[in-house]
Amino acid sequence: MKRRPLLIGNWKMHKTAAEARAFAAALAVPAVRLASTADYVVCAPYTALHVLRVTLPRAVALGAQNVHPAAQGAFTGEISTAMLHELGVRYVIVGHSERRRLFAETDAWVGEKTAAVLAAGMRPVVCLGEDETERAAGVTETVIERQLQAALATVTADQAAEIVLAYEPVWAIGSGRTPLPEDAQAVAGWLRAQLAERWGTAAAARVRILYGGSVNADNLGGFVAQPDLDGALVGGASLDPTSFLQMAHVLTGGNA
Ligand code: PGA
Repeated sequence: MKRRPLLIGNWKMHKTAAEARAFAAALAVPAVRLASTADYVVCAPYTALHVLRVTLPRAVALGAQNVHPAAQGAFTGEISTAMLHELGVRYVIVGHSERRRLFAETDAWVGEKTAAVLAAGMRPVVCLGEDETERAAGVTETVIERQLQAALATVTADQAAEIVLAYEPVWAIGSGRTPLPEDAQAVAGWLRAQLAERWGTAAAARVRILYGGSVNADNLGGFVAQPDLDGALVGGASLDPTSFLQMAHVLTGGNA
């Protein structure tokens, strides 16, 4: 089963609408050389989504960094799947470790968001990963299994192709430290085995699994050479259009 390589930029709380427009403008000409065999996504702040919808090259899809699972209601400051979908959003990050840690998001809450994103016809990018203490204690698989079970609680095998999993060790995010590609592969392979147990091998083979945490154009190649890693979720290095394009180039083995 050949899965489409996927590069997702997570801008976090960076870039005003004007700065997002400048990013899109810088991509406009080189984007014609982006290989059509891969998917490219920018997950921008809500305030930049509209301008990006109008200005981003068609080869680059629009993503959001969070969502509320309810259809609507008295949830001050929140945003719904319909609001995102209407703006052209196709991917939504759920369960990023910053949201779990800084905003107290629980595993069950991540599961609700995953279900809501799928129901709205968008693709959830479910983040999973152990922190430094859990890694030292040797409980990485226990932690990730708990996160995975909750995130996929209501997801069915026929939705496998719409799901993206991002293995992001918390200690690697924004730190400049990464696991060895082989170690990230070991987790990704284990994740796929979990999916196969749940849905069977064919459905498990359709799920795209990304690595995330201090990825850049120099180290991306090592990760995407691994059999179970289909791309990357990238924070800091996705902010600069030249760096984004370099990573797109590496992702597709030089065809971008
Ligand atoms: P980083 O962030 O690439 O800046 O480490 C990755 C992420 O948080 O998704």
